[in-house]
Amino acid sequence: MRIGFFDSGIGGLTVLAEALRRFPDKDFLYMADTLHVPYGTKPEADVKAYILESVARMMGEGIDALVVACNTATSIAITELRERYSLPIVGMEPAVKPAVEMNRATGKRVLVFATPLTLQLPKYYALVSRVDDMGIVDSLPLPELVHYCESLQFDKSIMNEYFRAKLASYDLNQYGIIVLGCTHYPFYKNILREMLPAHIEIVDGNVGTVKRLSALLNRYGIAEGGGSGDVHFMCTGNEPAYKDKMQTALALLLEQNSVSETLST
Ligand code: DGL
Repeated sequence: MRIGFFDSGIGGLTVLAEALRRFPDKDFLYMADTLHVPYGTKPEADVKAYILESVARMMGEGIDALVVACNTATSIAITELRERYSLPIVGMEPAVKPAVEMNRATGKRVLVFATPLTLQLPKYYALVSRVDDMGIVDSLPLPELVHYCESLQFDKSIMNEYFRAKLASYDLNQYGIIVLGCTHYPFYKNILREMLPAHIEIVDGNVGTVKRLSALLNRYGIAEGGGSGDVHFMCTGNEPAYKDKMQTALALLLEQNSVSETLST
């Protein structure tokens, strides 16, 4: 039993880290489209072709379920992937709905961070039109953040400066929640937590995605066991160093998670 995770780069590892905690009894295949990362600043038609090609390769390797651990790829290709393949497929979308619900009582605004492509696609527009009945959702594209993340740039002062510049024109007192609508962004959760005012919550879709995966595996009757938490990494480029990078990044996330768990118990 092997679950495939797909992203343009290391972003999907933030979802995989959550899945590893929930399913230590499964094996995983992680595919990064390193030849074409970042997706979020490229034309939709090109990105769609890249996704279909990468996922076809994953299918050839043998997977029993697929998590499209990328908001941009989900917006572009989830319908077509579900038409092509009959295995369970979980996609991701920015957690706008829960964020609006969480702010319903206070009326504070919601700020969604995502890639330019995610924010300009009809799927996002439809999502916001459906759930933002109070007109409280604002969106901010962060095209540079995937570059920083892919080069493992986690220096606190550099990233603080970046986020401060991006947020300079926002009155943060008006906001109650920031939604991380790209799977690369949770790498910066701790940095954001330290720099943002304490009243702002930071949410991502990772726990929700893994819950949906769990429900789907149950529905398909493939819930129990079948592996041992083994992760096999693949990428579309042939840079051997990228696999080391993925391993380093995953270890970083697992360590971050266990630290925040210790702090909260
Ligand atoms: N991690 C991806 C997402 O969730 C895309 C990042 C990119 O390649 O631009 O949207």
